[in-house]
Amino acid sequence: MLRFFSAGESHGPLLTVLLDGMPAGLELIASRDIDPWLKRRQGGYGRGRRMVIESDQARIVAGVRKGYTSGAPVSLEIENRDWRNWQKIMSAEPNNEPIKKELTKARPGHVDLAGGIKYGHKDLRNVLERASARETASRVAAGAMAYRILETVGIKGAARVVNFAGIPCDSGMDWDNLKKLDKSPLRSFDKKAEAKIIEKIDLAKKNGDTLGGIIEARFSNVPIGLGSHTQWDRKLDGRLAQAAMSIQAIKAVEIGDGWQGAVNLGSEVHDAIYYDDQYYRKTNRSGGLEGGVTNGSELVIRAAMKPIATLMKPLETVDVKTRQKADAARERSDTTAVPAASIVLLMMSSIILADALLEKFGSDTIREIETNLANYKNYIKEY
Ligand SMILES: Cc1cc2nc3c(=O)[nH]c(=O)nc-3n(C[C@H](O)[C@H](O)[C@H](O)COP(=O)(O)O)c2cc1C
Repeated sequence: MLRFFSAGESHGPLLTVLLDGMPAGLELIASRDIDPWLKRRQGGYGRGRRMVIESDQARIVAGVRKGYTSGAPVSLEIENRDWRNWQKIMSAEPNNEPIKKELTKARPGHVDLAGGIKYGHKDLRNVLERASARETASRVAAGAMAYRILETVGIKGAARVVNFAGIPCDSGMDWDNLKKLDKSPLRSFDKKAEAKIIEKIDLAKKNGDTLGGIIEARFSNVPIGLGSHTQWDRKLDGRLAQAAMSIQAIKAVEIGDGWQGAVNLGSEVHDAIYYDDQYYRKTNRSGGLEGGVTNGSELVIRAAMKPIATLMKPLETVDVKTRQKADAARERSDTTAVPAASIVLLMMSSIILADALLEKFGSDTIREIETNLANYKNYIKEY
């Protein structure tokens, strides 16, 4: 079982990531396998200044020796480069420094107020430092390690944006040109929509406003039979949805046709089954999952990201110290982070998918998983 934990504040010294259950014998090199994903998370048009200051790097500190996992828990650290400016403010040791950067004007759309009340803080920085999407760097690092397991058995993943603030940018999937996504400032193949979207982002920024969008994580070559229909918490669609919904600012998730399926006829929603030497489908409206089990089609997960909650033209709020009306606090912030969120979605989905893979094919060594998968593929041929 793959278990992922993280710790670390947005402006603390570092993020700590622990991934337990990694099989032994997996080739894993931080600079090659993790850092490029961290870089992708930092990219995209409409990001704030912090993304320029920081260039994340993972430092593996346990569970890997000479480039291979040992089977022990893998832990890694990602330094916060901005820490030097926050050392005294965020120090774990008591000191006599005056309280700086206190945040008392709760930002609507953030957990500031509910978290402050729940944990008994009037300096809401104690809440926001952990709630901040800086934490998604930990998710991406853990997800990149899980993705290595998937890659090793031939599963490929892609993250893209399919709708930016109401402007569709889905010109179709192009597995042969994934590099185009890395080059696109919007993580989209749709060049035609680009200018219009960039204009919308620029305008939102000028107006002190923010934008959301719809993101997609997709996997190809996924074996049939991951997940299970036999118990509610084993269903893979449910597990993927929980992982997606836990990402900051994600407010809805769909598998395959999702919301559209609710308005179409049944004959337009389900994928007929055919056989010609092997079972196959001509359509993939189900997004690769039926009854919580992968069916061999591409796995397609989409999620809706709300606009960033920190507005430079702030909403009204209340100062929790004075209880007076105030403008919401403005912490350095993105105008939009939709392209980055697609990377987080792909990486969170990778953790879930890798976990389901280990469940089915063994979890001690990569070799064992490869052998079991090959035998299973032979079995499917005869089924
Ligand atoms: C990659 C990424 C970057 C984000 N950047 C910001 C940001 O710069 N400013 C902000 O207010 N919210 C940002 N968010 C969203 C907030 O973290 C999130 O809305 C907030 O923690 C409240 O959680 P909720 O929206 O899930 O309820 C970002 C989210 C993601 C996934």
